[in-house]
Amino acid sequence: MPVNSPTGLRTVAATRYVTPFREGGSLPGLVEADDLGMYVLKFRGAGQGVKVLVAEIVVGELARRLGFRVPEIVLVELDPELARSEPDQEVQELLRASGGLNIGLDYLPGSFDYNPVVRAPEPTEATRLLWLDGLVLNVDRSWRNPNTLLWHRKLWLIDHGAALYPHHYWRADRFPADRYRFDAADHLMLPFAGALSEVDDELSAAITPELLDEVLALVPDEWLEGDEQFPGADRVRSAYRDLFAARLRAPRTWVDELEAARAARV
Ligand SMILES: Nc1ncnc2c1ncn2[C@@H]1O[C@H](COP(=O)(O)OP(=O)(O)OP(=O)(O)O)[C@@H](O)[C@H]1O
Ligand SMILES: [Mg+2]
Repeated sequence: MPVNSPTGLRTVAATRYVTPFREGGSLPGLVEADDLGMYVLKFRGAGQGVKVLVAEIVVGELARRLGFRVPEIVLVELDPELARSEPDQEVQELLRASGGLNIGLDYLPGSFDYNPVVRAPEPTEATRLLWLDGLVLNVDRSWRNPNTLLWHRKLWLIDHGAALYPHHYWRADRFPADRYRFDAADHLMLPFAGALSEVDDELSAAITPELLDEVLALVPDEWLEGDEQFPGADRVRSAYRDLFAARLRAPRTWVDELEAARAARV
């Protein structure tokens, strides 16, 4: 049953490693947990490190609060001893390297990759999603790799680990946050989105400092400590706050650039 959670996310313990998702670059795995739920586990010991897990929580939980559908995100306590019964050596190593807290996404059975050509998205949803990915610099939602699932005829957002990439090297002094590179050319929703001006006011006003604090508080301190540039979890939370503030501050050049890319495509 859920153990004490260090944050507002539910914490479960993995009881069984079921199978890897071979298509995932980070080798996510399907696990069963002590609440009998099945979760897609994102391992802390995977190559890209814990910042990827931080981005999953911050962007996934922000998206949820803006009204997007996102599978429940839980913290998953993993006992590296689970590796003992695992025959695959690569998986064994991943389990051994991932003892402690990881994240899990509620597994959506029967879901599949969303293809907007087969089923056109609802226009406002497409526009809002393009705006959100622009804000958080999520380059990982292309038509090749949609990271969007269709489940019960609705769109569900997954895989936000590549977003917020400036957190791998906080250098606000050298790269003003509104100038970070975001190439939307292959974005899943570029051909389907309407004018970004239709959603810009609503979304930028919805992302208040209080909302960001709420979301940042969900990240376990241990994943924020150890940042090379900022000592202490709260200093790192401030760095995320500053990044969002800079991208949300008007005039939003990135919105204009994204709109130019969109308009040129239509
Ligand atoms: N909650 C979920 N329910 C059902 N299937 C899922 C869920 N989350 C992920 N998957 C499946 O697992 C695959 C890999 O997951 P995900 O994209 O999160 O991993 P990744 O390693 O970051 O992937 P990549 O870097 O290759 O995009 C997805 O493409 C999807 O098919
Ligand atoms: Mg993916």
